[in-house]
Amino acid sequence: MSVATLNGRDLLSMADLSVAELRDLLDLAIDLKAKKLNPRCEKILGLLFTKASTRTRVSFSAAMYQIGGQVLDLNVNVTQVSRGEPVEDTARVLDRYLDVLAIRTYEQQELETFARYAKIPVINALTDLEHPCQVLADLQTIKEEFGQLDGLTLAYVGDGNNMANSLMLGCALSGMNVRVAAPAGFEPNAGVLEQAKAIAGDRTEVTLTQDAQAAVQGAQIVYTDVWASMGQEDLADSRIPVFMPYQVNEDLMNKADSKAIVLHCLPAHRGEEITNGVIEGNQSRVWDEAENRLHAQKALLVSVLGVE
Ligand code: CP
Ligand code: NVA
Repeated sequence: MSVATLNGRDLLSMADLSVAELRDLLDLAIDLKAKKLNPRCEKILGLLFTKASTRTRVSFSAAMYQIGGQVLDLNVNVTQVSRGEPVEDTARVLDRYLDVLAIRTYEQQELETFARYAKIPVINALTDLEHPCQVLADLQTIKEEFGQLDGLTLAYVGDGNNMANSLMLGCALSGMNVRVAAPAGFEPNAGVLEQAKAIAGDRTEVTLTQDAQAAVQGAQIVYTDVWASMGQEDLADSRIPVFMPYQVNEDLMNKADSKAIVLHCLPAHRGEEITNGVIEGNQSRVWDEAENRLHAQKALLVSVLGVE
């Protein structure tokens, strides 16, 4: 298999990938995990993060070091970004030093501006709108569990946030049914929902409900995420009563398929969106999912950098 399919490309949204490109990327991640390939490069990855991160920062760094590359952690507080240097200028300068740039920020628009002004591949390491790198690892985890993605049903229960948006797109591209259960006023992005429905066509279903129990009925994958994302910390307490009917607990899991697994992008708030019993229970795959961030992002780096 060619590992350079995405040579020079950006990954700003899950929708930047075609059905075949996503399938190839997941297969590459699985092969890299099995050490069937040993791609090597001397490239430099920059990590420009405005929000906190454990998994994304460390897995991108480890992946780059494992293929022989280098990483620059560009904490915005020690760059001129924090003093207001325009994105357009920062992007054109970083483009001259780096081979690939992963950005974690708030506005998708800011990421898109970086990508427009930097010629090197720009990767979405999480925005308020999407988290595609997480979904690559999620789909890898599901494929490893069930052997295929096509025809499976994923129920996302909770806040219609960046995870919900990227999962809708990723599932639609993978031939999976996706049901989102979110309280009124916390639905996923309407434009992304329509985009996912368009990708799914009449092959699979993308549905939205306020009924968590109906969403998980017979689902093979139950997915949740925090009720208040980064930047919404002040709203966390007020959201708890609104979201409590969407908690992934033992009762809810009993409605899912008997072979169902539970995923969570982490970090998790035990006792809020997921109970301790479920995240630590035998249906949980969250640690494999977290590990797969390393393999999936290594596949992405190898592919966008054109490493052979
Ligand atoms: N899931 C995820 O992106 O984790 P971090 O915020 O720790 O990177
Ligand atoms: N929805 C969460 C995901 C964290 C990985 C957030 O944006 O904070």
